[in-house]
Amino acid sequence: MNQYVIAIDQGTTSSRAIIFDHSGAIVSSGQMEHEQIFPQAGWVEHNPAEIWNNTREVIASALSKANLTRHDIAAVGITNQRETAVVWDKTTGEAVYNAIVWQDTRTQDIVDELSKDGGPERFKQKVGLPLATYFSGTKIKWILDNVDGARAKAEAGDLIFGNTDAWVLWNLTGGVDGGVHVTDVTNASRTLFMDLDTLTWDEEILGIFGVPLSMMPAIKSSSEVYGTVHTSQLLREVPVSGILGDQQAATFGQAAFEAGEAKNTYGTGCFLIFNTGEEIVHSKNGLLTTVGYKLGDAPTHYALEGSIAVTGSLIQWLRDNLGMISSAPEVETLAAAVEDNGGVYIVPAFSGLFAPYWRSDARGAIVGLTRFVNKNHIARAALEATAFQTREVLDAVNADSGVPLTELKVDGGMVANDALMQFQADILGVPVIRPKVVETTALGAAYAAGLAVGFWKDLGELSSNWSEDKRWEPKLDQAEQDRQLRLWRKAVTKSMDWVD
Ligand code: G3P
Repeated sequence: MNQYVIAIDQGTTSSRAIIFDHSGAIVSSGQMEHEQIFPQAGWVEHNPAEIWNNTREVIASALSKANLTRHDIAAVGITNQRETAVVWDKTTGEAVYNAIVWQDTRTQDIVDELSKDGGPERFKQKVGLPLATYFSGTKIKWILDNVDGARAKAEAGDLIFGNTDAWVLWNLTGGVDGGVHVTDVTNASRTLFMDLDTLTWDEEILGIFGVPLSMMPAIKSSSEVYGTVHTSQLLREVPVSGILGDQQAATFGQAAFEAGEAKNTYGTGCFLIFNTGEEIVHSKNGLLTTVGYKLGDAPTHYALEGSIAVTGSLIQWLRDNLGMISSAPEVETLAAAVEDNGGVYIVPAFSGLFAPYWRSDARGAIVGLTRFVNKNHIARAALEATAFQTREVLDAVNADSGVPLTELKVDGGMVANDALMQFQADILGVPVIRPKVVETTALGAAYAAGLAVGFWKDLGELSSNWSEDKRWEPKLDQAEQDRQLRLWRKAVTKSMDWVD
């Protein structure tokens, strides 16, 4: 009897495989980090071959830790860092260039050029996104424009594109020996090329970007059998039956299935997703419109999203670039040694500013420095930056929806940080709630895959798996909250002034 579902979570810093049982509990997992490649300022790349190798390894490790084989696994789900673009040759299986990561800002010139005719929002009504370096479309164009011979090969039909979900799926289902070239609606909605209404590639936009339609994967729902794992792999013949971009997967794993429900995930960045049900809502306040999920033939659920590029990766930066801490959790100890931020505010605009500003030209700023300030204050300000950015996104969600959120469900690595979660509740002024299973991203992908094969029967069954672990109530008085927000907003203006 197949008692488990495995989720592959191909994230920004690592690839993981997590095996879940029917109650949604984790049975075992494997994880491997991959190299972050920074060829020059503003560029961020991953090696697709390394990602695929790591994926295979983590699947093997998750299975062996729990003493399981493919016979125990009912389905495979995939979730992934979205917008990270891989272009590969379908005849050799090799990528023609490293994956260009969602944080990469090299395509600013492409954005500026395309914005000349109609401004940065010229495609927004159709695709839900402004023109920005963030999305896959500009990255595909960059590869075709800059890699020798790529355009000719693409036009001959040899090159294909995918976010990392499609790259993993294609390899898992056979690669050059018949791998399926498919993505799901949530990933497709992050490219700049999918019409949100028809859920099809928009040939006019593809034409404007000069990207051949033949490169694009077939768009499928988030929950259906796309293919089975190739016979050369450990999980051979197991159906692959769920794909959700990682933020949509976390929303699904949080059982936020209905309009009006929301979650915020604290990873390398922070992503607040607000379910708008079957309605496509266009933001007036700097949020993206995106697909939330689509289960087989059932109606599509849409969402508003507030994307923040840098939160957890600011802590990694303190560790790797400044050497201020030797491991990420140390930041909490440092921050706890001081009463407050000592007047310091850090605006981590490493990839420009995403929501609600969408200013690719913004750059990071540390303001409020005095001789008094020490590394404890910097650590504290780094953590607080996450909470302030989330507050700005929540304000945008509330303004768009007209019905203020009365609580926020949270998940992701940083929610283990008690002080940060308390400060988050203080700065939002609403309770912050953490579920028992915080690996909601992988869980969401497992749910989508399990639903497609009847492992779980319906959304009601999934909702009953959700339970609260901890809740932080806001404690800060209003005047202090207002003062801190005022200073934060002032700091943000400094980061936007910094244009050469
Ligand atoms: O949009 C980028 C997002 O999908 C990346 O998420 O968790 O890999 O940082 P994460």
